[in-house]
Formats: sequence, C-alpha cells, structure tokens
Amino acid sequence: MTANAASPNHLQLTRDGQLRHFLTLDGLGRELLTDILDTADSFIEVGERSIKKVPLLRGRTVVNLFFEASTRTRSTFELAAKRLSADVLNLDINTSATSKGESLSDTLLNLEAMASDMFVVRHAQSGAPHFIAQSVTPGVAIINAGDGRHAHPTQAMLDMLTIRQHKGGFEGLKVAIVGDILHSRVARSQIRALNELGAEQIRVIAPGTLLPRDVESLGCTVEYDMARGMKDLDVVIMLRLQKERMEGALLPSEREFYRLYGLSQDKLALAHPECIVMHPGPINRGVEIESAVADGPQSVILNQVTNGIAIRMAVMSMAMGGQVAERQQKLNELSGLNERGLA
Ligand code: CP
Repeated sequence: MTANAASPNHLQLTRDGQLRHFLTLDGLGRELLTDILDTADSFIEVGERSIKKVPLLRGRTVVNLFFEASTRTRSTFELAAKRLSADVLNLDINTSATSKGESLSDTLLNLEAMASDMFVVRHAQSGAPHFIAQSVTPGVAIINAGDGRHAHPTQAMLDMLTIRQHKGGFEGLKVAIVGDILHSRVARSQIRALNELGAEQIRVIAPGTLLPRDVESLGCTVEYDMARGMKDLDVVIMLRLQKERMEGALLPSEREFYRLYGLSQDKLALAHPECIVMHPGPINRGVEIESAVADGPQSVILNQVTNGIAIRMAVMSMAMGGQVAERQQKLNELSGLNERGLA
C-alpha cells in the first residue's frame, strides 16, 4: 500500500507503504496487518530463550509517555523495547514537570532534545498521538498505546495474534465483543482489524446505553440479548466497564449488568464448545466475567498478555525500520539533487 497526501496514512506510512508511526489501524490493509502478525510470530521465540534479546534497536532510545494508568501495555512496551536492545525511559507523569503545568508540546520538545528515537504514548485525549506525530522531529517514531475512545492498535493486534494462534486464521470466524463498546478504544480497533483480516461475523453485544450511535457503521452487527449473541461463537471478547469515562447513569447497577451481560459458565456454554474467551484487561471479576470463566480452560487472557510483547516488538522494529528507510530515501534524493547542481 502507498500513502498519498490525501490519505489518512500520509502520517503513519512512508511513501512506499512501510510503517513509520503506528497511530491507528484505519487504512492499513490486510497485507500490512498480516506482516505485523508474521513479524510478531518470529519474535515469540525470542521470549523463550534464556537470553531474551535481539539487537534491532541497539543504541536507540524509547520513551514511554503514559498520561493514563496502565499495567499490561506499559510493561509489555518496556519489555519489548528492552528485548530489542533499546534504552528505555519511563517518564513518570505524576512526578514530571507536567504536574507543574508544562504543556505536552514542551514536554516533547525537551525529550526530543535528549535525542529520543521513539515515543510510546497513552493519553486520555483521542488524537493525542496523531497530534504528536504531526509535529515531531523527522526520524522519531510515535506509537499509539491507547488514546481516549479512539484507538488501541497494538492491543487489537495482540488480540489478532492470539486468535490466529488458537483458530489458525480468520476465515469463517464468528466473534463477539461484549460490554462497554461506547467507551472502548479496544473494541473500535478490534472491529477494524477483524474486518480487514476477513472474520465472517463480528457482533457487538451490549445494552443500548453502552453502544455508540451508528455502531453498525464500524462494521459489526448488534445484539442486545446475550443468549442470542453467544450462539455458535468461536471467540468471545469481554470488555471492562470504563466507569472513569462514564458520564451519568448508563447502567441500572453492576449487579444487573452482570446478570444480563456478564460471562458466566452458563452463558459460555451457549457458544461453540471450542470458543475461546478473551479480555484486554484489567478484568473485573463478578462484574463482566465470572472467575471460573476467566481462569477456566477456554480462557486465553494471559496468552494475550504474553503476545503483547511480541506484537510490540514487531511494531516498534517495523516503525524504526520505516523511519530509517525514509531518511535514507531523502538523503539519496538530496544527493541526486546535489549531483545535478539543484540543491
Ligand atoms: N489492555 C490494556 O490496555 O491494559 P492496561 O490499561 O493495563 O495497559
């Protein structure tokens, strides 16, 4: 795939279609998504070695900038960068100058002055990583680690890797995403990835108050009744109720939500017997999922966490490779102009 100035990928792809930032799955084709999955597959073996390191980012500096809480994403980005041999800086936002009123732009300018090569950004504001990618010094890669309700592309890709490992591929798959779709950047990125990779059915199962307007336009069907929605499923993905993003009363009570939409053993029995159970975490036991299901034989929740390292290694190494290729291309062009006496 190539990117032109009018395409949404003008920012995240090089002219010859390589990744240089990773901001969203929108506009990324099946070939590139499959390339990310295949690259991640090749990194799984690194995590099984006694010395878990490859030199792909040796000498590079990766800065983790998390303006929202995180356990899985932040830790696995850090481990991924270290396994690629990068130097890693985890900026603690609570004790950084942001808490003294420094703007995001000024924080970034200062970190760029330390010769950083990559920023991994989580922010409550949708579009923050995109904003940073527009203004960052050429050669510095921006990776979206979750922005507002917009996107969580590495989470969706680690989910796709987990599905591919357990189901062999996406053709013919029936997948449901259950719960708080309204506030979920994870669901938006998963729906996008599942459509691009060719899943047969993508259902969202939720009460009307937890669905975005025109949710079908994302590329899914809607089911309000959990029992109907579970029928014949190959994959069920549970979501956390994002109470921190809820304004007003969207639910009668957590107990009522669990009764209607919580994944219990009884409800799981309505799906295909080999249906896998996924959850991006953090899980709330007894709110969206029963402990016996979360810890049960069909659960792949901890496999998702493990796969987060390989996916993040893939995305970081591919984006850095794209930045290097682009820089080389510009140098070649400049040297061509020089030779012709045009520079
Ligand atoms: N899945 C996910 O984004 O988890 P964290 O908030 O712990 O990073």
